[in-house]
Amino acid sequence: MSETNPNPAPEPSPEPAKPVVPAAAPVAAAPKPLAPKKDMSRGDFLWAGWGMLAAFLAATAAAGARFMFPNVIYEPSQKFNAGAAATYDLGVSTKWLNEQRVWIVRTPSGFYAMWARCTHLGCTPNWWGDQNRFKCPCHGSNYTLDGDVIAGPAPMPLWRAKVMLAATGDLIVDKAVLENKPGKREQAPYFADYAPS
Ligand code: FES
Repeated sequence: MSETNPNPAPEPSPEPAKPVVPAAAPVAAAPKPLAPKKDMSRGDFLWAGWGMLAAFLAATAAAGARFMFPNVIYEPSQKFNAGAAATYDLGVSTKWLNEQRVWIVRTPSGFYAMWARCTHLGCTPNWWGDQNRFKCPCHGSNYTLDGDVIAGPAPMPLWRAKVMLAATGDLIVDKAVLENKPGKREQAPYFADYAPS
């Protein structure tokens, strides 16, 4: 039979909990000191200079080329060959109306070329042979065979273009040179004498 110890030895008290010490954060590696910059060598300096000079010369050359070839809009020539004078009958020819916007008018003594542009707002009038007048379809201006205004809002006569009789017998019309003043428009270069033998 076993005996119980009336004075049991006291149980050892548990050890006090040790404070939890957080793990130390890893220490960031110290940045390596930058390598000291090398000074630009004399050779590098010269190359840089040559590079800048080459860039400058290229820019200058480009500007020069642009000056030599400016942005120009080339318009079609205002001069045209209206063909042999001998092929025209007396009166108004509409042969060049669509292509050149010009009427060739032959009189007993020569030719004039009338610009088919209404002096009101620029519409193209029509030739009415039975009424012997040009009539603008836009606002009703009427012009005589000479180009003078006889009705409507047009403020001035129709313009005549320079016309010449070439040695070949062809009529050369230049729409860049215009006249509409009575007295001037009946003379050269706005009238080409023509008297075939
Ligand atoms: S544009 Fe010809 S009358 Fe107005």
